[in-house]
Amino acid sequence: MQEDSLAKLAAEVLVCTKCPLHRSRSRAVPGEGPEGARIMFIGEAPGREEDQQGRPFVGRAGQLLTEALEEAGLGRSEVFITNVVKCRPPGNREPTEEEIAACRPYLRRQMALLKPQVICLLGSVAVRAVLGEGSVSGLRGRFLERAGQRYYVTLHPAAAIYNPNLRAPFKGDIRRLADEVMGRRARAASRLEEFFG
Ligand code: URA
Ligand code: SF4
Repeated sequence: MQEDSLAKLAAEVLVCTKCPLHRSRSRAVPGEGPEGARIMFIGEAPGREEDQQGRPFVGRAGQLLTEALEEAGLGRSEVFITNVVKCRPPGNREPTEEEIAACRPYLRRQMALLKPQVICLLGSVAVRAVLGEGSVSGLRGRFLERAGQRYYVTLHPAAAIYNPNLRAPFKGDIRRLADEVMGRRARAASRLEEFFG
């Protein structure tokens, strides 16, 4: 049997017909990023731009996310970015529980393949779909652990596009996430240096 991989999963998503969203999509959006990504971002669903390009977070919300990552010293190409559902809901409505359930196995496989140090949940749909409970306002800016996986919750960047007052807090959250993950990386490097002199 062929081993599972992110590439194999992406190929399945591109032709998936497991929920009604496949009928209205232009392109499915499996997600993107390297196999070794330390951080995985999970948004809600592709929007218009993402549906056209087949890539996650490339519209206005995506530009804000990309900017926040760069300002925090993290390249977009270092992280893995995906969504709860891989196809655009018509008119950007919220995905239904049925659509989320139909698409969840892909998300679970991506999580299992990546085993990221931290999974960052962007907004309430991702929080509900992955943790099954809790709210952004209750969990925001904190590291949580569930079943051996670390999570971090922040706003959906679209909320900060809609309300410019939320841009600085959003960027602050992403910076704290990057500092935590890169801080660990720096500490691991210095331990290695100690060991090998
Ligand atoms: N909003 C999302 O939740 N995901 C995207 O990929 C783009 C916008
Ligand atoms: Fe398949 Fe997910 Fe797209 Fe639905 S949203 S058709 S389950 S890939």
